[in-house]
Amino acid sequence: MKPLSEQIKKRPVIGWALFLATAAVVFLLGMLASSIMQRRAEATFAYTPQVKYDQFEPRNEVWGQNFPREYQSFMQTRDTSLRTKYNGSATIDMLEVDPRLVVLWAGYGFSKDYNQARGHQYAVKDIWNTLRTGGPTSERKSPMPNTCWTCKSPDVPRLMNEVGIAEFYSGSWDTKGHQIVNAIGCADCHDSQTMNLRISRPALIEAFNRQGKDISQASHQEMRSLVCAQCHVEYYFDKHRPGSEEVPYLTFPWDNGMSAEAMESYYDAKDFSDWTHQLSKAPMLKAQHPGYEIYLTGTHASRGVSCADCHMPYISEGGQKFTSHHIVSPLKNVSNSCQVCHREETEHLVRDVYERQDRIIENRNTLEELLVHAHVEAKKAWDLGATEQQMQDVLLDIRHAQWRWDYAAASHGGSFHSPVETGRVIATGIDLAQEARLKLARLLASLGYNEQVPYPDISTKAKAQQYIGLNMEQLEAEKSEFLKTLLPQWLATAREREAGYPVQTPN
Ligand code: HEC
Ligand code: HEC
Ligand code: HEC
Ligand code: HEC
Repeated sequence: MKPLSEQIKKRPVIGWALFLATAAVVFLLGMLASSIMQRRAEATFAYTPQVKYDQFEPRNEVWGQNFPREYQSFMQTRDTSLRTKYNGSATIDMLEVDPRLVVLWAGYGFSKDYNQARGHQYAVKDIWNTLRTGGPTSERKSPMPNTCWTCKSPDVPRLMNEVGIAEFYSGSWDTKGHQIVNAIGCADCHDSQTMNLRISRPALIEAFNRQGKDISQASHQEMRSLVCAQCHVEYYFDKHRPGSEEVPYLTFPWDNGMSAEAMESYYDAKDFSDWTHQLSKAPMLKAQHPGYEIYLTGTHASRGVSCADCHMPYISEGGQKFTSHHIVSPLKNVSNSCQVCHREETEHLVRDVYERQDRIIENRNTLEELLVHAHVEAKKAWDLGATEQQMQDVLLDIRHAQWRWDYAAASHGGSFHSPVETGRVIATGIDLAQEARLKLARLLASLGYNEQVPYPDISTKAKAQQYIGLNMEQLEAEKSEFLKTLLPQWLATAREREAGYPVQTPN
């Protein structure tokens, strides 16, 4: 056969035919590509709502009819199989793993019961089940206020809208149990009309206002962290809020800043304590979970990475990209959570996380051990007749040292989110705890006691709870009575209310 160029020279029509055929193929490919793009665009931006509902629709399954992919991934937070080296979504009894915690929290609810968090689907269930909320019945009240419901459910914005914020926080935890049944979900983070991210919790908006900042000016990327900061933050119940005195009003202690020292100075100035320690009688602070605050001090935050970048990565299903709502440890899915930005192998990235955690936890353990000693030695000093005045400085050191320990321990993920700051806070805690023990040694000597105060046998959770005199059998019996009697009544009332909640199908 002759070369093509020669054939075309002889019969130019072949050239034209080839040209037209190529043009047609290019045109058809263009059409195909444009149709694909259009479909994608339609799928992302314009959705045809299957059902209509308002901002206060608490049922995730109703929103889920319009957004099945996000809903299905969100439902995966039911999975409790993930166990990483220090975290994950399995139920782990932390008091069993580390019975020293019982002594650190003696006199406070956490010494009764404390499990690793399982995930958003369990937020309401876990607070029913924990011994910390007690076993309320029609006669017996819960030891916790309604404020404890605030970070558990999209029923919270609904109810706040109905009754008002301060009224929502008022009363003991059992008085609003029939109202709060849906686990953390869509209405907590989204606007129902636009699906834009939305802040539904007043405490965060109020904390911004007090600092002269307007949260509605936050950038889109900031919002991808701020939705989490509605709950994953340090907070306390302020009973002296002007206008709502005696109401345990949910408040973020950020007015002086967000570091351990800044919040500590805030609490000190207000003379606030969460409880008085049963052994040492120190006025204690319980850090809740300053996850957002510590996160802000880390490398990723300073590079503008948001919580959602790692905990809610984009994933792809059938050619559709969407945000995974399976919020969990990012080690579950390193390829989508980390490798969109990092080139390293999975193994390498996981090792980076574990190495940072190992180092922090080593020092955290040291601090914890020092704190147990300090509480026990302070108790000995009281027993030997120490005066309030002699104890004052010691107790302040213990308060501050344990606050630093808890700030680091309770900021879940902190040893990866910001290892340098977490390490620094623990180091200052070690300093303070040693200071307290030195003062105690001198005080004990002046009271005629020159031996080592014996370390209690707290080798198991049961032994530690016995040491501080908790009656676990009674607590458990009360809880099981609640689960059998009051809880079914709550659920029946909730089912009735939800059956009457309007869901319209669009015309
Ligand atoms: C309305 C309050 C609320 C909001 C908003 C919220 N969380 Fe949570 N989160 C919780 C509570 C409560 C738990 C513990 C639930 C349980 O296990 O019972 C939790 C648990 C978790 C866990 C632990 C689950 C596990 O695998 O151990 C992770 C991770 C988490 N949240 C990340 C986030 C991220 C990231 C955001 C923002 C995109 C966010 N959360 C927004 C309240 C909230
Ligand atoms: C803890 C907060 C949080 C909760 C709860 C939550 N979302 Fe989202 N959602 C986000 C974030 C963050 C994004 C990413 C938004 C962005 O970057 O614009 C998102 C994105 C979306 C989008 C936009 C499309 C996409 O996939 O990126 C839809 C639709 C959506 N969510 C639906 C839902 C539904 C339905 C529920 C309840 C089943 C829900 N979300 C619960 C935080 C949340
Ligand atoms: C959205 C992008 C992004 C994602 C997602 C991301 N990183 Fe990073 N990471 C960065 C940037 C940017 C830096 C700073 C590096 C620099 O500027 O040199 C960084 C720094 C680091 C560092 C060194 C700093 C430090 O904190 O010690 C480690 C380790 C790291 N990333 C691990 C991870 C892991 C593990 C994940 C997943 C869980 C992850 N990163 C997800 C962008 C990202
Ligand atoms: C650069 C990625 C990255 C970013 C950004 C990030 N995290 Fe994490 N987070 C991690 C890693 C890695 C862990 C440790 C997971 C483990 O040990 O299994 C973690 C752990 C956690 C945990 C404990 C998880 C568990 O299984 O118990 C919570 C809660 C959490 N992060 C919340 C947040 C919040 C809230 C933000 C934003 C303020 C945030 N994270 C930002 C990577 C990230």
